[in-house]
Amino acid sequence: MKLLAHISDLHFGREIPAVAEGLLADLNAIQPQLIVVSGDLTQRARRNQYRAAAAYLSRLPATYMVVPGNHDIPLYNVFARFLSPLGYYKKYITTGLRPIYNDEEIAVLGINTARSLTWKGGRISEEQIDDMKKKLCALPANLFKIVVTHHPFIPPPDGEGIDLVGRSIQALDVIDECNVDLLLAGHLHHAYTDDVRSYYKSRSGSVVVAQAGTAISNRLRRGMANSYNLITLHRSHIEVAERRWNGTQFYKAAAVGYTADNNDWHREDLGIEEND
Ligand SMILES: [Fe+2]
Ligand SMILES: [Fe+2]
Repeated sequence: MKLLAHISDLHFGREIPAVAEGLLADLNAIQPQLIVVSGDLTQRARRNQYRAAAAYLSRLPATYMVVPGNHDIPLYNVFARFLSPLGYYKKYITTGLRPIYNDEEIAVLGINTARSLTWKGGRISEEQIDDMKKKLCALPANLFKIVVTHHPFIPPPDGEGIDLVGRSIQALDVIDECNVDLLLAGHLHHAYTDDVRSYYKSRSGSVVVAQAGTAISNRLRRGMANSYNLITLHRSHIEVAERRWNGTQFYKAAAVGYTADNNDWHREDLGIEEND
């Protein structure tokens, strides 16, 4: 069993200090084994925002893995945007743009989907798809395999704010081929979870998607609260719990379970818990 915290869209520069401290307190209490950060660490890719993000990451109470988001590339500084789009990211966060974590139970691969040219949208390159295939297909089939991007593979249930990752179909072909079980992303500041087949109706491969809200920023979408995902992984069961900020602390607001049945993940809503 693994406990994995999936946090996203920190947006330093627009962070809410009390929520940022509340998230650290919650993570310290829960003690996940791995923390995945799915991009948009900063609001405008400025040096001071990167410094604040790096200081925050250094306080996370577990091993963590990060991928950049579109906000981690400068928008207005056109020279930096094209000449060194992730210069500060590499200086302050990590030089590794293809992070991979694996142990005896899970393998997690991060893919950078942020692009200078289409600043808001994101995509996976053919070369990144080849690299994913090389790395994930080579790992044992009994590992629980996870891919992390900033841009989402599936839209939210209300279909709003679609900025889906480009070249998703080709990526999903490899994701199926390498038996990836779970996709983690952010970007829309909207927490939701479903099977990829909820959107790609004709696909046969069952893959669970967990989208995280904005963990600590005030860039909240339509009255949604700050949140992150706490994911419990068993080989044949996944629970995706949304932990939401109630003004004082994070609490378990909703959870969805997925149970493996042959090659399918069967979804079961586990209900909404009272705000405590
Ligand atoms: Fe964001
Ligand atoms: Fe984003």
